Amino acid sequence: MQQTPHINPTGPIANTVLMPGDPLRAKFIAETFLDDARQFNQVRGMLGYTGTYQGVQVSVMGSGMGIPSISLYAHELIHVYGVKNIIRVGSCGALQEDLDLYDVVVAASASTDSHFITQYDLPGTWAPTASWDLLEGVYAQSRKAEVPIRVGNILSSDVFYNFDETVNARWAKMGVLAVEMESAGLYAVAAQAGARALGVFTVSDNLVTDQHTSASERQSAFTKMIELTLPVAAK
Ligand code: HPA
Repeated sequence: MQQTPHINPTGPIANTVLMPGDPLRAKFIAETFLDDARQFNQVRGMLGYTGTYQGVQVSVMGSGMGIPSISLYAHELIHVYGVKNIIRVGSCGALQEDLDLYDVVVAASASTDSHFITQYDLPGTWAPTASWDLLEGVYAQSRKAEVPIRVGNILSSDVFYNFDETVNARWAKMGVLAVEMESAGLYAVAAQAGARALGVFTVSDNLVTDQHTSASERQSAFTKMIELTLPVAAK
């Protein structure tokens, strides 16, 4: 199979790819939730696996952190390997007081402080939006599994350590639920290519109440999110 600067596939890549930020989490998801998972990428340690879930082929691959990283992997997966659906499964920092640690947030839209979207040279402000098909699928799954989710606008920020400590509160006032660092770029790459994308997150920090999860607690909370997304990935 064709090689790109960042992917050298040693096996098939499915139409749908689940993308956690951490490549070791991709390995964990593949080994824990997929049948017959085989590694297809290890370039730069960005591990990717393909296996089956309920008999349907699904891939899972790390995205790295930030819009530059996820956008280059999404570009290569979609344009070179024909991937149709990318579901980011990550963590986020809640910007609203009523979001608890481990709550699941789904990004119907992703505001951003990144300049990534200026490359499309649009005569206005383009709104990074999730695929309705994927979003509706996860929503239906959440109802079925009786796992509540919060759907709304999130912030994809280039900045993890903010110099200006007032910025989060200003986004929060506009109803933004949480902050992460990738989805707006993923949504833009997918939209431009006619592919589908969705971001699903577990609240790992609440930046209003200053609550934080421990690494070990995160693992089980993460499972809830994977169980909501894998049935959609395998459709
Ligand atoms: N900022 C950005 N991304 C995050 C955070 C955060 O506080 N927590 C988890 N992902």
